[in-house]
Amino acid sequence: MDLPTDLAAALDAATADLPLRELESSVDRLIARYRTPGRADRPILSGHIDAAAYAAYRMPATWGAVRAALAATAERRPGWAPQSLVDVGGGTGAAAWAAATVFGDSLKEVTVLDQVTEALELGRGLARNAFSGALRHAEWRKVRFPAEVPGADLVTVSYVLSELAPDAQQALVRASAAGAETIAILEPGTPDGYQRIIAARDVLIDMGLRVAAPCPHSETCPLLATGDWCHFASRIHRTPLHRRLKGADLQYEDEKFAYVVATRTPVGASPARILRHPQTRKGLVMMQLCQPDGTVAQTLVSKRQGDVYRAARDADWGDEWPVLGSAQQPTD
Ligand SMILES: C[S@@+](CC[C@H](N)C(=O)[O-])C[C@H]1O[C@@H](n2cnc3c(N)ncnc32)[C@H](O)[C@@H]1O
Repeated sequence: MDLPTDLAAALDAATADLPLRELESSVDRLIARYRTPGRADRPILSGHIDAAAYAAYRMPATWGAVRAALAATAERRPGWAPQSLVDVGGGTGAAAWAAATVFGDSLKEVTVLDQVTEALELGRGLARNAFSGALRHAEWRKVRFPAEVPGADLVTVSYVLSELAPDAQQALVRASAAGAETIAILEPGTPDGYQRIIAARDVLIDMGLRVAAPCPHSETCPLLATGDWCHFASRIHRTPLHRRLKGADLQYEDEKFAYVVATRTPVGASPARILRHPQTRKGLVMMQLCQPDGTVAQTLVSKRQGDVYRAARDADWGDEWPVLGSAQQPTD
């Protein structure tokens, strides 16, 4: 996935005149801090250089993760066209850009809430020439949670919970979901990020919302009993500045993320979801599926299944299964 061209150009312009050494040392500090999730007594982003460093090295990955989660939501809800978005702990606006990518012109009103003035200012500047009118006219509001969250068709809480104590995480999920028609919560795709998503998912279900993605059900997560954790990946192409700031040679990075999307309007029956990269052996595709009945299962698709096999060969981690139009049949 490439960043939208308007966002890529805005990031280049915003960092062009900043001292590279300072950006690099800010990136090193931020990487070290985010590696050890835990309550932040003071904002982790402190000042303009930190906000710019975050936008340059991290925002592309969080944009990619939110875009993937919202694309999965759109697939579950064909024709759904959210008009208002509130991005909670939105920082420089990655989730708002992702929503604009997925929902395009349907989005009319964007509000980004965060405690860091410099992140909000940078976000506003990045969005100044965005193709999306909703982004250009977004409201960037300074808020320190706990606080009330305005209602919206879509509320995003992307990579925020790890900075809060567990009871504050619960409170933020409740406040964010209170006026949300749909809420998307994302965390890093680590075992502890998954645990925070599971705790948030429990709160949402307790509030009467139904899970729309990635789970095809609102039952207890079947992976909890296995020691495994549910997560997905989004591949982002790195810009030269991104590579330089991360000291990386690879042209891309795979952002691993865990997420839950829940809605007030039930979205109808869901197919299974593929939980890992499908394994392809001679004439066989093996997939691990989370199923609508709340169980997890391995399924084998053989070459003898023709179109179903071809669909399985093309299927990817995080996709729904069966894909539309390929009725899954048992292997013998
Ligand atoms: C890791 S950044 C994620 C930014 C953005 N959502 C993204 O996905 O790129 C976490 C953001 O949450 C904000 N945040 C954390 N705790 C907060 C609080 N108590 N009140 C307001 N914002 C908070 C931080 O200021 C920061 O911008």
